[in-house]
Amino acid sequence: MGMSKSLYPSDSFEFAQRKKDHIELTHQSKTAVSTVDDRFNYEPLFFQHPTESEVWSTNFLGFNLDYPVWVSSMTGGTASAKTINENLAKLCGEFKLGMGLGSCRALLDSKERLSDFAVRKFLGNQPLFANIGIAQLAELLNSHNLLKLEEVIKAVEADGLIIHINPLQEWFQPGGDRFSLSPLVTLQRSLDKISYPVLVKEVGQGFGPKSLNALLELPIAGIEFGAYGGTNFTLLESLRDSESSAYRAPFINVGHTASEMVEMINALPYRQKQFIISGGMNSPLDAFELKTKLKAPSVIGMASAFLTPAQTSYDELKLHFLMMRESFLVARNLLELKDRP
Ligand SMILES: Cc1cc2nc3c(=O)[nH]c(=O)nc-3n(C[C@H](O)[C@H](O)[C@H](O)COP(=O)(O)O)c2cc1C
Repeated sequence: MGMSKSLYPSDSFEFAQRKKDHIELTHQSKTAVSTVDDRFNYEPLFFQHPTESEVWSTNFLGFNLDYPVWVSSMTGGTASAKTINENLAKLCGEFKLGMGLGSCRALLDSKERLSDFAVRKFLGNQPLFANIGIAQLAELLNSHNLLKLEEVIKAVEADGLIIHINPLQEWFQPGGDRFSLSPLVTLQRSLDKISYPVLVKEVGQGFGPKSLNALLELPIAGIEFGAYGGTNFTLLESLRDSESSAYRAPFINVGHTASEMVEMINALPYRQKQFIISGGMNSPLDAFELKTKLKAPSVIGMASAFLTPAQTSYDELKLHFLMMRESFLVARNLLELKDRP
């Protein structure tokens, strides 16, 4: 006969210990009124704890995702990239997410590093987007070599392309590219000759309202924020440059947060675009707030949060994602945005 659980938990040591903890921790457990997170209505009467198989089905760019989560573009072209990308892709395959590859520049002239990016087999039919910088796009356009990009997209079996716009990163990067055409003109001229779906993103500064408005008018599928408030590639390049100029430094802190970008997009006419809200989306509450607030279809993009566990092992990454998933689902099941648009 198995041990039966006592009907009188007050008999148990565990119960007594818990009650003792309650008394001892009481004075550390006071919340100041000023610390309340007042973005949400808290609705416990309608709540159920998420089950292991619970999903948050989301259609994004015509793909069915089980959760509105996108692994933002990170790496490729270096020794450790293969394991990182494979782990990230396995996660997207297992939990039906979407993924952006890191810059595929290394594949333009040689397929030597193709195996870093060859992750389609782990993703099944989940969306996979290749990635290239606007400076490389301008170069390819100039040299009438846009077909090379199409070959890269085919080689990595991607569903489309993400173009990153990074003028400050290039300016800070020792030996970085200089734009002789504005990104808008480069995009306008290239998109005419491109037939696959395109997303445009920043890498830590986000986009202002005029740029957003211009992007919304282009024949692109959507925009990834790459907003201020998360990993910032201008800061990152300044850290790589021991002779970085003090005159440049103040530029690190210009840009737009994801929250500000959501407000800006909501105020612009709706033009059928879809969005990856990214740049510092580490709190499930920020992610839930912004996804709910944005009037257009969206997913939450994260890069750095996945990086360390993806470097460690697939099991670590999965564990990390499971905790993140649970928090997203608790937010969805428990909270409502107060000023829902
Ligand atoms: C290690 C690393 C490499 C990245 N490489 C690229 C890249 O090749 N292309 C790109 O568009 N963005 C790149 N990013 C930027 C991310 O896609 C994302 O926009 C940015 O990290 C903000 O997200 P986070 O705050 O969640 O990290 C990279 C980010 C990290 C952390």
